[in-house]
Order: sequence, then C-alpha cells, then structure tokens
Amino acid sequence: MVEEHFFDDRDELIQTLAARCEAQLLHAIDQRGKASLLVSGGSTPAPLYRELSHRMLDWSRVGVGLVDERWVNADHSASNERFIREHLLFNKARDAAFYPMKQNGSSAQAAAADVAELYQSKLSWPADLVILGMGADGHTASLFPRAEGLEQGLNPDNPSVCCAINAIRSPVTGEYTERLSLTYATLCRAKELVLLITGSEKLAVYQAAKTWQNTIDDCPIAALLTDAKVTVSVFWAP
Ligand code: 6PG
Repeated sequence: MVEEHFFDDRDELIQTLAARCEAQLLHAIDQRGKASLLVSGGSTPAPLYRELSHRMLDWSRVGVGLVDERWVNADHSASNERFIREHLLFNKARDAAFYPMKQNGSSAQAAAADVAELYQSKLSWPADLVILGMGADGHTASLFPRAEGLEQGLNPDNPSVCCAINAIRSPVTGEYTERLSLTYATLCRAKELVLLITGSEKLAVYQAAKTWQNTIDDCPIAALLTDAKVTVSVFWAP
C-alpha cells in the first residue's frame, strides 16, 4: 500500500520529509531510548541527509546503517559509506553510531553473513526509519531486476537482515554489480518506509510498479508497492 506525498518543488519536499524523519527518530528515542536509521546511496537523498544532519536530536542514540552497498572500499567514489559520511554524518549527526556494510573479505557473498550478524546485533529492529531510492530500472536498495541473489533478497521468509547480490551489468549499475542489500523481508518490517524519488522518468516507473502484474523479478520495487501489508510513504517532486 502506498501513501503519496507529491510536491511542486524539491526544497519543499526536503523540508517536509526532514521534519517527518526527525519526528520519527525522536519518537523512537522516546519509546525505546534509541533509534535505527537505514539509508540509501544514490544522488537523490543528498539534500535530505544534509538537512537532517542539522536537526536537534540526540544523535548519540541513533544507529545508522546502510540499505545497500557496492563492494568497493570505503574511500572509493562509488562507496555508499563514503557518501553517507560526507552527506549525513556531520554537523549534529556526527554523534550517530555508523555501521558500514563493506567489511574485510574477498567478496560480498563471503561477507554477507557477518554483515547480517553485525547489523542484527548493533542496530535496533524493526528499523525505525528506512530511506529507499529507486532506479529507472525498477530496483530499490540493491534488489536489481533478475540479479543473482534476488530470489533470497525477495524471499519474504528470509531470516537474514541482508544478502549478497550480483546484478546484471547495466547503465544503472555501471561496473558496480557486486553488492550487499537489506532484504525485502527486513524492509517490510520497518516502522517507517520512505521512498524518495524525483523527476518524470522515475514517476512513470513508480506508477507502473504500483500496479505491476508481471513477474516481480523484472521490477523488484513492485514487491513493496503491491504488498498490502506494507505501507510505503512515497515522496516525489519534479
Ligand atoms: C545506490 C542505492 C540505490 C539508489 C537508486 C537511486 O547505492 O545507488 O542505494 O538503490 O537509491 O539507484 O539512485 P539515484 O538517486 O542516484 O537515482
């Protein structure tokens, strides 16, 4: 099920969404003394993260994790860890505890179980707030169409927090096909699941995905948008 928040301009969207994220994190801290925030990479959320980084909350009680990661080192320009350190974990948010996905190890596949254990033990579950993005190919997190590992990634009964994905190389993945991703089962349980998208191309993909009737492997975001038990708050601006 979707709850749509459509705006005429991006600044208004960012201000409204930042206030909502702040309220959700404050609520979690109030309820259980800590909060978990899971964040995506990509270019779209950078202004949201920068705005959120100034918000007055006890960031030392917030655990931040990634929705997905490319199997590259933390100083690589394609690293989501690097992106989050540069756009979110400064100003007041520098006090948050951050848990990267890229660990030592030969491959995403070899590291997946350790990362799942790290996330399971260090962050509070179900996640209080998850910020998702979407690609024009219908992927979300690193759940890419027809990827190796997608079956486990989309399995609603998968007990693991995250999984290894080997995407089919495309203009969207570039050379970064080896990834770690939160699983669909983990995303479904989030207390607040936000999908942040901008522009007309993504709007068209989103509109098609929310009434998707073909195989989900071709459009993984549709698994969330057509799941009646999950509420996705969709934030869009041109
Ligand atoms: C990533 C992501 C990914 C992203 C979409 C949208 O690592 O790239 O977490 O799922 O959210 O690809 O990316 P853009 O905002 O750059 O379009």
